[in-house]
Amino acid sequence: MAADKRKKTGEGKDPLPRHIAIILDGNGRWAKKRGLPRTAGHAVGAETFRRIATACKNRGIEYLTVYAFSTENWKRPEDEVGTIMKLLGRYLHEAIETMERDHIRMKVFGDLEALSPELRALVEKTDEISKGYEGFQANICLNYGGRDEILRAARRYAIDYAAGRADELSEEGFSAYLDSAGIPDPDLLIRPGGEQRLSNFLLWQCAYAEFYYTDTLWPDFDEAELDRAIAAFQSRDRRYGRVKSF
Ligand code: IPE
Ligand code: IPE
Ligand code: MG
Repeated sequence: MAADKRKKTGEGKDPLPRHIAIILDGNGRWAKKRGLPRTAGHAVGAETFRRIATACKNRGIEYLTVYAFSTENWKRPEDEVGTIMKLLGRYLHEAIETMERDHIRMKVFGDLEALSPELRALVEKTDEISKGYEGFQANICLNYGGRDEILRAARRYAIDYAAGRADELSEEGFSAYLDSAGIPDPDLLIRPGGEQRLSNFLLWQCAYAEFYYTDTLWPDFDEAELDRAIAAFQSRDRRYGRVKSF
């Protein structure tokens, strides 16, 4: 299915990224510019995610992973964290309807222990629904930190190794303990909002991702911006340590 859509995007063109990762940044500044509370920016940002996820699916992208709430974001004012959590709950509810309608797979990355029982129940439901589908997959990073993910994976590996259930450690073997187990690494990492940093996002998986930064704030991010990022990706020469091939 994805391969057919890929073909439609133009014979002979550079390949599309299979996996796009996006740091959803700039919601607060978007709201501030309009004299609105920061939380208004988060509400519009959630809508932008819905539109961009559909746009990725329509373009034949196989995986979209978005950074929605980091392990560091708990340091924000309590009312902002509370509103974000409420929005995420509402969002997951709606996402379940969309998944069932459009047969979309969805996975949540992050340490789910710290989330409310309501949110955890919604996450379990998305896992359950996803089992029945194939094709486009959206991953949402919630209470996610790249270092935290690596530590959680290392702890699980150590337990398995001690019990004789795991082989000597290899890059591939370790990847299977990460939240992203079984999912190819992101090819393209997009950060809207003007900052040029990773902020603890997918540290292991982005080893060879192509980075694309834009000043556009996430709530203003549209399909044209997505296409610019994809075009920039297609113009890159991915050498993986080798020399350029002519
Ligand atoms: C991203 O937007 C959303 C989260 C990190 C939860 P921000 O809230 O970081 O927006 P800015 O960067 O302050 O504009
Ligand atoms: C990164 O954005 C985290 C998410 C988008 C979830 P932040 O706004 O938290 O990042 P910093 O603070 O600018 O590094
Ligand atoms: Mg920010």
